[in-house]
Amino acid sequence: MMKKACVLGLGYIGLPTACMLAAHGYRVTGVDVDPGIVDAVNKGMAGVLEPGLSELAASSVREGRLVAQGAPAPADVFIVAVPTPLAAGKKADLSYVKAAASSLVPYLRKGNLVILESTVPPGTTDGLFRAILEESGLSAGRDFFVAHCPERVLPGNILHELRHNDRVIGGVTRQAASAAKELYSAFVEGEIHLADARTAEIVKLMENTYRDVNVALANEFARVAEEIGINIWEAIDLANRHPRVNIHRPGPGVGGHCLAIDPWFIIEVAPEATELIATARRINDGRPAIVAKHVLGELRHAGVRRPKVAVWGLAYKGNVDDVRESPAWEVIRHLQEAGAGVSLYDPYVHLSAVDPRLRGTPGLSGLRNSVRGADCILVVTDHDRFKEIGPEQVGPLMRHRFLVDTRNCIDHETWREAGFVVKILGDAQRMPDGRPQASARAL
Ligand SMILES: NC(=O)c1ccc[n+]([C@@H]2O[C@H](COP(=O)([O-])OP(=O)(O)OC[C@H]3O[C@@H](n4cnc5c(N)ncnc54)[C@H](O)[C@@H]3O)[C@@H](O)[C@H]2O)c1
Repeated sequence: MMKKACVLGLGYIGLPTACMLAAHGYRVTGVDVDPGIVDAVNKGMAGVLEPGLSELAASSVREGRLVAQGAPAPADVFIVAVPTPLAAGKKADLSYVKAAASSLVPYLRKGNLVILESTVPPGTTDGLFRAILEESGLSAGRDFFVAHCPERVLPGNILHELRHNDRVIGGVTRQAASAAKELYSAFVEGEIHLADARTAEIVKLMENTYRDVNVALANEFARVAEEIGINIWEAIDLANRHPRVNIHRPGPGVGGHCLAIDPWFIIEVAPEATELIATARRINDGRPAIVAKHVLGELRHAGVRRPKVAVWGLAYKGNVDDVRESPAWEVIRHLQEAGAGVSLYDPYVHLSAVDPRLRGTPGLSGLRNSVRGADCILVVTDHDRFKEIGPEQVGPLMRHRFLVDTRNCIDHETWREAGFVVKILGDAQRMPDGRPQASARAL
């Protein structure tokens, strides 16, 4: 008989996982508390923008291997992939995990496997999660299996990475880890490594913390570069020619559902032992204010009064529609608090994703609207689409021709030739002989 899986949470992680299982021999019930998402999935659409996902969801639904609904159903395997955002005080908000676990309790049977995929602070799977499931009267380890299997997929490439990445599976018991390994072996072609649940939890957090600290270092290097008059992008490229060096890229801050959040889950469980991690978070969180201050300083220096800034990019990184924890929010807030007018352009982001936080910031859906009467284009996200826009399309609509690129992703020479003053984050714009330009005011 076909095995049954029930996946709770049909977002970036849950829906692709549900589709993968559906494509590999499981009959899948997808569960979401958002009726709009349930409806969309049943119509064969993904609620999130991810290449190939809607097609895969559509075929799974059409062939009867995936059905979405608002409540769980009996199954052999339950997978929980619900959000774990930050709550006040920079602590993990586990309310979604608690609600999802509670909703499973009436359906739990002997022999079931329950997997927590959501990113959580160490101790959650074997603690809170297990305790809620045991309200069923069944005992984890004896009657059913519990494991943590964190996700490390890259939005924009999720379907490929789900299949090809290595996985770390942490079992509350050894048997649970083995049972989970068997499940993921259905579609994972990377290696599957077994550990205990707490180790798997911290491994996931360490991966993102490593990257967050690395970005903080790059951001600090960018400021040093501005002080001493060099181009940080060139310097990082050269340093990365060393076979054992991999410095990340500086930017306007760190966003997304993972890097900006996960380090706090480590700080939460060991606040005295996490000085470097906390400092890195502070550095990255401080970037939007620095970017806004420099943009406005630049415009003031040029004599622009009542500046209007066209912010390009609301998503936290290039070519995705995900605006969670995006540094763009903070950049915009700082610009507005300083009295600047702000317009927005992000061809990847739906208006519905930004209401109601951006009331009064028109132009999200239109390139021309965003630049009409603007003094400066501020590139916050490195979307490929921005690289295709020529200065001749927008320059004539603007009041002044400034462009500030916080991602070093635009063809600067073309824009300079079109009369734009172009500033690049971390580039102090050297003279041909290598000396910083006297007039250059780096970001
Ligand atoms: N997005 C990523 O790239 C990524 C990568 C690795 C890990 N993660 C982790 O995976 C988890 C899920 O992230 P996501 O990006 O898929 O989130 P998401 O917001 O895209 O999707 C979560 C879904 O869960 C639903 N939901 C909330 N409570 C529910 C409940 N009680 N029962 C059923 N559904 C419920 C929401 O309506 C939403 O559709 C998080 O812990 C996140 O940190 C995400």
